[in-house]
Amino acid sequence: MTKRALITGVTGQDGSYLAELLLSKGYEVHGLIRRASTFNTHRIDHIFQDPHTPDRRLFLYYGDLVSSEQITGLIAQVKPDEIYHLAAQSQVKVSFDMPEYTGAVTGLSTARILEAVRHSGVTTRVYHAASSEMFGSSPPPQHEETPFHPCNPYAVAKLYGYWLTSIYRQGYHLFACNGILFNHESPRRGETFITRKISRGISHIRAGKQDKFYVGNVNAKRDWGYAPEYVEVMWQILQQDRPDDYVIGTGEVHTVQEFIEEAFGYAQLDWRRHVAVDPRYFRPLETPELIADAGKARRALGWSPRIKFKELVQIMVDADLEAMGLPSPGAGKRILREKFGDWHQWQGAVQEALSGLQREVP
Ligand SMILES: NC(=O)c1ccc[n+]([C@@H]2O[C@H](COP(=O)([O-])OP(=O)(O)OC[C@H]3O[C@@H](n4cnc5c(N)ncnc54)[C@H](OP(=O)(O)O)[C@@H]3O)[C@@H](O)[C@H]2O)c1
Repeated sequence: MTKRALITGVTGQDGSYLAELLLSKGYEVHGLIRRASTFNTHRIDHIFQDPHTPDRRLFLYYGDLVSSEQITGLIAQVKPDEIYHLAAQSQVKVSFDMPEYTGAVTGLSTARILEAVRHSGVTTRVYHAASSEMFGSSPPPQHEETPFHPCNPYAVAKLYGYWLTSIYRQGYHLFACNGILFNHESPRRGETFITRKISRGISHIRAGKQDKFYVGNVNAKRDWGYAPEYVEVMWQILQQDRPDDYVIGTGEVHTVQEFIEEAFGYAQLDWRRHVAVDPRYFRPLETPELIADAGKARRALGWSPRIKFKELVQIMVDADLEAMGLPSPGAGKRILREKFGDWHQWQGAVQEALSGLQREVP
């Protein structure tokens, strides 16, 4: 029988990849999108199906997670086999500027979803997108038993959702799981996130549109993986016999400065001429060092990342150069061809970047 999935945040980086993955597995995919006065569906335009298409498998609904009215009705109507709760105000820096809003969306939305599931009587499995930011200042490597010491409002909001998911699993016996994912990036990463800011900045510099861009704390140490691999593990987590929580990451750590140097070196540019630090991007409190110990996922799910740091950098730089209509060194494109033969294709990978370019053309 065809499985039905509901994805919140389907227009985001992860939601768009996950929708593709699930469609490729034969799922019927229902996605919640928030209404905006401009188009916000560019990451899923390539899989969009007109409502009049017979036998379509992608359904989109307007809704906002600050209110439970839509989500409750939707769960009762769709009766999904699986819910992937990915929607969030996901920017750490923004969470300092808008802590209350971040709590309302990133934190409370999980309560709205879990309550809706509980009251609907629908038997569904729930994935909650928790975050490595919850570990905060706890020394690395971090695993499922590491204590949480969050350093920003975003992480606090995620922690609320994390504990609620755990409580509903134990208290109400819901099949509810936390994926504690470390940073994962792609050509579809939001343009204000540091990795994408770097790869996109390089393409703008190469195209002569920009000469310099500004970054915040270049000493932050992060564990960066490749987003399509991380949505695969979200699906795996919900296919297990028992609900559980998993840390997901590569176990490899690099500073933001190293990302800059690797990306500029790959594009044969001198970063010193084009990148400067602007304290405006500093956070009131920094999360110093995040490195995943994903041993449990490796043992229980057989998951381990195929794309590591250097390859990720090459994929992102190639994609942004191509999106700008420029030649790319091509190593990133080659890596994807070799490692992802099936659902995940280069053209799809760069979709967000390409559609962004199309909109720039008058
Ligand atoms: N990427 C990472 O490194 C990472 C690591 C750990 C955890 N996570 C978490 O994993 C999830 C997916 O990450 P991502 O990188 O795909 O994030 P993203 O690209 O920022 O996507 C966030 C999604 O949430 C939607 N959204 C935001 N506020 C909403 C609201 N009030 N109502 C309905 N939808 C709303 C956004 O809609 P619009 O398109 O309209 O903005 C977008 O579809 C997030 O919860 C994030 O916090 C991400």
